Amino acid sequence: MSTLRALLLGVYGYWNYTKAGFERRLGSTISDESVKNVGTMTNKVCIVTGANSGLGYQTSIDLAKRGCTLHLLCRNEERGKEAVQNIIKESNNEQVYLHIVDMSSVKSIKQFLDSQIGNTIPKLNILVNNAGAIVERIDPVTKTAQVTLNENGYENNFLVNTIGPYYLTRELINFMEESAKKDKDASRVIFVSSGGMLTSRLDLNNLQNQGFTGASAYAHCKRQSCCITEEWAKLHDKSLITFNSCHPGWVDTPGLSISLPTFYEKLKGNLRTLEQGADCQLYLAVSDEVKESTGLFFEDRKPVTPHFTLAFTQESEQERKELIKKCDSIIQDLMLK
Ligand SMILES: NC(=O)c1ccc[n+]([C@@H]2O[C@H](COP(=O)([O-])OP(=O)(O)OC[C@H]3O[C@@H](n4cnc5c(N)ncnc54)[C@H](OP(=O)(O)O)[C@@H]3O)[C@@H](O)[C@H]2O)c1
Repeated sequence: MSTLRALLLGVYGYWNYTKAGFERRLGSTISDESVKNVGTMTNKVCIVTGANSGLGYQTSIDLAKRGCTLHLLCRNEERGKEAVQNIIKESNNEQVYLHIVDMSSVKSIKQFLDSQIGNTIPKLNILVNNAGAIVERIDPVTKTAQVTLNENGYENNFLVNTIGPYYLTRELINFMEESAKKDKDASRVIFVSSGGMLTSRLDLNNLQNQGFTGASAYAHCKRQSCCITEEWAKLHDKSLITFNSCHPGWVDTPGLSISLPTFYEKLKGNLRTLEQGADCQLYLAVSDEVKESTGLFFEDRKPVTPHFTLAFTQESEQERKELIKKCDSIIQDLMLK
């Protein structure tokens, strides 16, 4: 089954996720009415995680150009400061602030929340959960890729791709709903997922990704964030907050070149540009067309099914609810350690 899913992803992805796929779906020029509101979002406050590189960096420039106040969550001070300077220069918007947060650490996220929310960040309209990574170690003897654990025994892909964004968002939901009431405009949460999840079925018995390589652990985590998006959307009033996830396509970013070098080399000339890759997350953050959309998975501005036909990856609602319970209890455990 895993070979069939990988084959389906290869064929579907090559047709749709490349630069040619983007142009076929959306045309070669990407600025249009639905994301045109340059400079008209001056009252919006946004958080973008992983904003110093690749898609997060591009999304931050695009939001800053529209006048938003931006809070960048980055794990490295030097890279973060450089990104802030460049985003201000590119956008002519000075309202860009850096916070040092390690998205794989619930304690680092908690420190940010406790010190900034309701303080330097008086409201929040848009949260882009963009930070993500494939974390693995190549065994020097067997030369095989293996997942790694943090100091508390939790798997690193799970921490950065699922638990971190889950915890950050969970803690911000009430605050974003209150912001929506004040602004009379629903707040928006966007999870940057990956088409890689189409190869993966939610497996509640292996949240620690045992026996996986980094890439399959990553795909599993992106499946989890898609499930969480769908479930949260059901629990919350869409006139106050919406939750959507998206796949950016296969994009020429530092992250892709480092984590999947062979894939990157093969597709190099046909990868999407940063602007093309960031288009869908920007669309979900700013377009009026998706004001009321929630619980959906998007590719190139269109909601699509998060499952391939005949791939048998569909989970049940009960499993999604169980995932949420497990995330809550893991966070509780991590807080105590
Ligand atoms: N590029 C693609 O083709 C593609 C396809 C599907 C999905 N995506 C998704 O798109 C998102 C952005 O990826 P990208 O391709 O733009 O990769 P990228 O260039 O590596 O950017 C990833 C960002 O996430 C940050 N990050 C990673 N681990 C972090 C942590 N523990 N705490 C805080 N920040 C952390 C990185 O910070 P550092 O610079 O400090 O490492 C960087 O700013 C990811 O969620 C990825 O899964 C990308």
